[in-house]
Amino acid sequence: MMENLLMEVENEIAVVTINRPKSLNALNSATLKEIYECFLGISERKDIKVVILTGSGSKAFVAGADISEMVNATPAEGKNMAMIAYKAFKLIEECPQVVIAAVNGYALGGGCEISMACDIRVASENAKFGQPEVNLGILPGFGGTQRLPRLVGKGRAKELIFTTDMIDAAEAYRIGLANKVVPQDELMDTCKKMAAKIISKASYALSLAKQAINVGMDTDLAAGLQMEANLFGLAFSTHDKKEGMSAFLEKRAADLTDF
Ligand code: CAA
Repeated sequence: MMENLLMEVENEIAVVTINRPKSLNALNSATLKEIYECFLGISERKDIKVVILTGSGSKAFVAGADISEMVNATPAEGKNMAMIAYKAFKLIEECPQVVIAAVNGYALGGGCEISMACDIRVASENAKFGQPEVNLGILPGFGGTQRLPRLVGKGRAKELIFTTDMIDAAEAYRIGLANKVVPQDELMDTCKKMAAKIISKASYALSLAKQAINVGMDTDLAAGLQMEANLFGLAFSTHDKKEGMSAFLEKRAADLTDF
């Protein structure tokens, strides 16, 4: 039973909503555990091909880790919270489905960090991104010091983390943090259209590509290229490879079914 998350599945798209609007969807330990359980379940479901992760309300995606829970936490409790987030966000990053963050408002601290564990970030025009942790005497602890430089480069990541400047959606787009910016009332539609396009492709091949990109970004080029060749070979074992290529040569639409 999930208290802090909502999930709906329709047309092979799961919409997962972080639902703590009174605290702008701040991530407490209970919510982080639910995100872990939720994505563990999703990663085993063949009827879900794309996940859209969003926050409830029209103001915030996620305003960060829950400061009221952290204020009296001990070092061990702080580390434990970060480890739960680490495990939950790793599942988001490694699940075979494509995960799109629909960033519908503030994505601060842990909110920016969870969006970066997703494959793609679509932001509404009112979205604001930032890593304000050093205002609170802590550093980003849910992956910000690691994923932000990988996404936007070391210099920009340091500037964002050291100044705590909040950037708007247009600036997030300019530096490559947001893939797309749309008016707020078009956000879910845009994400669902993108999801439908992704779903029409060869899903298993796509999950191999996701894996190749993720693992490759954390390894050296030669090892990454070797892994890509191995996964490329693996794709030759699938129905979709035979069907996709035959359909092309026979000038007909492909019937792609693997997952
Ligand atoms: N944790 C707990 N509660 C939070 C919260 C958070 N991160 N962010 C907002 N809230 C709560 C507020 O305390 C407030 O609660 P009450 O109504 O009970 O007072 C409610 O949500 C609404 O927030 P505001 O009244 O502050 O709304 P606002 O429109 O004036 O400001 C905001 C919005 C700029 C996002 C502001 O709420 C804010 O600065 N929030 C904190 C942002 C932050 O510092 N995030 C980083 C947290 S640390 C972290 O994430 C560590 C990490 O790396 C994992």
